[in-house]
Amino acid sequence: MSESPLMLKALRFEDIPRPPVWLMRQAGRYMKQYRALKERYTFLELCRSPELAVEVSLQPMKEFDMDASIIFADILLPLEPMGIGIDFNPGPSIENKIKMISDVEALKTQGVAEQCSFVGQAISSLKKELNNNQKDKKTILGFAGAPWTLACYILDQGPLKNFAGSLVFANQNPEALKLLLNKLADVIEEYLLMQIEAGADAVQLFDTWAGLLPEKEFRNIAFSPAARIIEKIKKTGTPIIYYANGANHLIPAMLEAAPDCIGIDSRTPLTETLELAKAKKIAVQGNYEAGSLFKSAGSVQIETKKMLSDLSSPTGYVANLGHGVLQRTPIDSVRAFVDTIKNSSSTWQ
Ligand code: CP3
Repeated sequence: MSESPLMLKALRFEDIPRPPVWLMRQAGRYMKQYRALKERYTFLELCRSPELAVEVSLQPMKEFDMDASIIFADILLPLEPMGIGIDFNPGPSIENKIKMISDVEALKTQGVAEQCSFVGQAISSLKKELNNNQKDKKTILGFAGAPWTLACYILDQGPLKNFAGSLVFANQNPEALKLLLNKLADVIEEYLLMQIEAGADAVQLFDTWAGLLPEKEFRNIAFSPAARIIEKIKKTGTPIIYYANGANHLIPAMLEAAPDCIGIDSRTPLTETLELAKAKKIAVQGNYEAGSLFKSAGSVQIETKKMLSDLSSPTGYVANLGHGVLQRTPIDSVRAFVDTIKNSSSTWQ
């Protein structure tokens, strides 16, 4: 039997010689190969065609050879078969936002995963493309948005911006919100199980906007729908990463949800979080500041080495950014980050 890939070992908290590395949004507009395809296809066309989604997912793998390949898609895709119109230009725009409980009741949950089977097809062929090489097996990552974060995009925010309106909605319509989050959790469970069935080796649950909530509200509103998805996925034996942005205050709660790994952003201290998570054998992913990749390749190499040398051991750590790669990020600095991690074994010898 061939050895499991480094990324899966890290997620299972097994001993590893160096951390695995991949980047959130590793495929995207900072790459000229992606921009070239975007001249011919819209973002949704790229997502909905398994051939094109695989091609885009492979672009960063060919350029930088990360340890994991995340399938090219978007967290908002499963909303469409639920009955919510989505478009991207390039940020998301939602056609019919949720205003009242009857809007929530009208949302469909049956058959949503099947209608997103193009994501599963893309995962299956990505896996075939990447796993020809038995020596250096890549981990195929599926993903989905967590219920609260998806709700932040579809709730009518009124005149409020930056998702503050989601909390107002939560307080004014607690029953509608509860029903919405439960329906989203049902859909996301099925959607992730479909991706696992198709061949995803691990999955990431993006709760990007969880950090918006104070801890009490997070626990009251967003925690259970996310925790239930995590529990369900863990039963399949497939590791799950739970990511939240700006969520230093939520680390204890995120650990209580008991994912295999928590993803943290750059405002959350790495070494302290690793210590907290280690006690529960939960891995930590992150948290190099995406904006720091605008420094020269040389500076990125120095900073990345420093970050690694602060770790007592690579076990239980997955190298990544604190959030997605930004547009116009210099390619050489991305390469410096990935290569520095890949060449880091000697740090712990
Ligand atoms: O990581 C990867 O390489 C896989 C692809 C991926 C995309 N979106 C592609 C994308 C992933 C994992 C996502 C997740 C996603 N989508 C999240 C969670 C992660 C995060 O950033 O916090 C969120 C909140 C979304 C919703 C979304 N989709 C936003 C806010 C935007 C606009 C972003 C921007 O950079 O303007 C999108 C569109 C989107 N999703 C793009 C890409 C490459 C840009 C669209 C384009 O190329 O025109």
